[in-house]
Amino acid sequence: MTDAEIHYLVEGFTRGDIPDYQLAAWAMAVYLKGMNEHEATALTLAMARSGQTVEFPGIQGTIVDKHSTGGVGDKVSLVLTPLVAAAGLTVAKLSGRGLGHTGGTIDKLESIPGFQAALSIEEMIDQVNQMGIALSESTHDLAPADKALYGLRDVTATVGSLPLIASSIMSKKLAVHTHAIVLDVKVGSGALMKNLDQAGALAKLMVQIGNGAGRKTSALLTNMDQPLGFAVGNSVEVKEAIETLKGNGPEDLTELCLGLSAQLICLTQSDIGADAAKAKLRSHLEDGSALEKFKEWIATQHGDASYVDDFGKFPATAETVMVTSPSSGYVQSLDALSIGQAAHSLGAGREKKSESIDYAVGVVLHAKISDQVNQGDPLATLYVNKTDSLESAKQKIENAFQFSNDPVDKPTLIHETITP
Ligand code: URA
Repeated sequence: MTDAEIHYLVEGFTRGDIPDYQLAAWAMAVYLKGMNEHEATALTLAMARSGQTVEFPGIQGTIVDKHSTGGVGDKVSLVLTPLVAAAGLTVAKLSGRGLGHTGGTIDKLESIPGFQAALSIEEMIDQVNQMGIALSESTHDLAPADKALYGLRDVTATVGSLPLIASSIMSKKLAVHTHAIVLDVKVGSGALMKNLDQAGALAKLMVQIGNGAGRKTSALLTNMDQPLGFAVGNSVEVKEAIETLKGNGPEDLTELCLGLSAQLICLTQSDIGADAAKAKLRSHLEDGSALEKFKEWIATQHGDASYVDDFGKFPATAETVMVTSPSSGYVQSLDALSIGQAAHSLGAGREKKSESIDYAVGVVLHAKISDQVNQGDPLATLYVNKTDSLESAKQKIENAFQFSNDPVDKPTLIHETITP
């Protein structure tokens, strides 16, 4: 299709001139035949321009953004945001709330009392110029054509089309005017993409679309067969993110935060390689400057930053319940989806946008893939407020773990880096 044909289609559909049944037939044609890179880029740009676009006039500095295709225990934005800001980049970011088994950055931040997630564009600009970071709940009508098309895809079995997924994700990213974007494309049981080939193709296409649209874009292809870090929930994830900013975070979470942040440095500063960027970023974890930036950010958005230094202030749950290992061996697999569903069933997530969530509940794992455990050793601590779902949560945790008698290798965390 030509650019003009694609624009005609998206504009006509958004205005209501092109009926659903025509677009549904087109979506099925795309599902079956695919789209080339040029068509996917034109579709993305048409959808990005179908509604309000967000610009930050007057922001000083290089504005960067990060997107994850969604995973369990993914608290990277909480670490990456102050980390890259400590390294001199500017973060003006719109984030979402969690739906289903994956959590949302806004919900996690709101587990710190007082944190104000809704900022106007003017407030974001002022805040960024004052301290380098503004992260707001997305209340804008970004890419309405994508919303409408997604609704149709959902009921016509065409959600799984790679060019439609790539255009859908990138249209919302491109509707916000940033200079550089790093994408974390997850692959594994807890991810949208279950196999490496598909995830790789999606990542490459999104990188091509981003760069084709004039934004510097890179992607990391990362493992989501097991949760990221140990904590899955809201305040438990915030505490783990803070530990990571103090330099005491889980190995996998720290590695991924450094890897994604380093891409943003490389995209925006041509004279620095990924290893040097990582070393610079690591120094911001070690000297406390990333943690200081986090506190400053939380306080600026009216959150109580004293929680950062005193975890005892976070509300405790009514109960903590330990799930122990039924057998001895090496952890062979740890199904991320089941762990996400267990945290969700305890109340950490929501099924519908209108539902409220319990910030204090969640799961903290004690073993991950390749760890050796004996029968009776702790596998996970559950933070529980309502006991009606406890048994099913415990069952989900037990079922998530598979053991082997033979040693198991640690899984590869970063499969590939896709650069412009
Ligand atoms: N996320 C999106 O925003 N769109 C898709 O099509 C799939 C995941």
